[in-house]
Amino acid sequence: MNRKIINILLKKNNTKISCLTAYSKSISKILDRYLDIVLVGDSMANVLYGQKNTHKISLDNIIQHTVSVKMGIKKSLLVVDMPKGTYNNSKIALQNSKLIIKKTKCDAVKLESNKKNFKIIESLVKNGIPVMGHIGYTPQFKKKFKVEGKTKIEAKKLLKEAKSIQDAGAFSIILECLSPNSAKLITKNLNIPTIGIGSSLYCDGQILVTDDMLGLSGFYPKFVKRYTNLNRIIEKAVKKYSRDVKLNKFPLKKNFLNGHRN
Ligand code: KIV
Repeated sequence: MNRKIINILLKKNNTKISCLTAYSKSISKILDRYLDIVLVGDSMANVLYGQKNTHKISLDNIIQHTVSVKMGIKKSLLVVDMPKGTYNNSKIALQNSKLIIKKTKCDAVKLESNKKNFKIIESLVKNGIPVMGHIGYTPQFKKKFKVEGKTKIEAKKLLKEAKSIQDAGAFSIILECLSPNSAKLITKNLNIPTIGIGSSLYCDGQILVTDDMLGLSGFYPKFVKRYTNLNRIIEKAVKKYSRDVKLNKFPLKKNFLNGHRN
């Protein structure tokens, strides 16, 4: 097994796992210095491409962005989302995950659960592809956002789903928008680490979409903590630049390539 994946497994009940998304090298090279896992998420559909859901992200989109992200990665585990429609059966899933790994040299792929694709995960793992699972709000399969696992019955169902993913051989699992009680139940009963997003503190690690936590995306639900307001910072810089250009304050002599105006 890949050393980086063993390190993630060893963190269960030990230290928390920190993860964020990246879609390009400029971001990934910063994340790599501090995070355990970097995910090239299909959330790029909403964040970068302005689409209303994640359904149109193609294999080529994911591969191109991952090639860029990989350039910034030295030590974090690099996980890549399999886009919707690229893992409909075991044969297609194996073909596409092999292609992603071959072209990007990523460490693992992530598959959203539709409560039926456990066999697909199992076949990927048997063929040497490390898989991260994803349950709860899974945007590839669910239209409406809702917090899951609020009742005991729902929480038990989610635990069963998570266990099936673990039994299929996944090395970790994303819990998206689960109630604190169900996150706690699943984290306690699984041997593999759980990574939460909008699922309380009761997970082995946390993930957010980087553009959300940097205040760049404009998407700030309650579970997102905004660590800075990049929108405001960028706006200030752009305003200043535009003013400088109009007032002939940029470029200055020190910015000339030949030391004088040609
Ligand atoms: O696509 C993505 O960024 C994700 C995270 C939100 C977990 O799946």
